[in-house]
Amino acid sequence: MSPVVEFETARLWLRQPVEADIPTRVEIPRDPEENRMYGGDGSPKTFSPDEVRAKLSALTAGNSAVSRSWILAAKVWPDSTAISQPQGRYIGHITIFDIDPDHRNARLRMGIYDRRFWSRGYGREAVRRILQHTFDDLNLHRVALRVAAYNVRAIRSYASCGFVVEGRERESLWLDDRWWDDLWMGILDSELKR
Ligand SMILES: CC(C)(COP(=O)(O)OP(=O)(O)OC[C@H]1O[C@@H](n2cnc3c(N)ncnc32)[C@H](O)[C@@H]1OP(=O)(O)O)[C@@H](O)C(=O)NCCC(=O)NCCS
Repeated sequence: MSPVVEFETARLWLRQPVEADIPTRVEIPRDPEENRMYGGDGSPKTFSPDEVRAKLSALTAGNSAVSRSWILAAKVWPDSTAISQPQGRYIGHITIFDIDPDHRNARLRMGIYDRRFWSRGYGREAVRRILQHTFDDLNLHRVALRVAAYNVRAIRSYASCGFVVEGRERESLWLDDRWWDDLWMGILDSELKR
């Protein structure tokens, strides 16, 4: 089991959790739209500091040979103003999981909790760096993810990194009195737009 290496990109640190992440997460306004992007009903739950602490522990617990997570910590606000927290502002997470070294594949999930950081390229910046690590350092060949078909922001962000739609899971989500599909997207090591 190798340690989870931390990374720095233009506007992010991809790092392990620190104590200062707990109050930051508690204060991020709960967002109905974010909740819906995961198939929720638009009623997000609020977190206590203890719940955030437990979530952060769970995120980084376990065997790094099969799952690796990083906190997305912004160095700057979207308007380029510096963030005052020395270890960056906790805005989300990214995880590579189900790592299968025999067939050299894995799955990816991520989320930016603070909508002030959406659609400003932070997501693709994180995905590109973690895929680079996954292909170059972990020697994997393929990464897949599942996304609600109505989550156009996520689909577009993933596509900009090189993911392509590989399949459609029909009528797998029940929301607003109707069915919605999920999409499966995948990327091969040769397809990463670095
Ligand atoms: C999905 C997520 C990680 C993407 O990260 P991001 O930093 O917001 O996305 P990016 O800025 O990299 O890319 C978003 C793209 O979608 C586009 N977009 C945003 N809203 C859109 C809309 N309604 N219709 C079409 N395109 C849209 C943006 O313009 C941008 O594309 P462009 O730069 O080519 O113009 C982030 O938005 C998020 O966490 N959202 C909430 C939770 C979630 O959806 N998690 C993923 C579950 S699979």
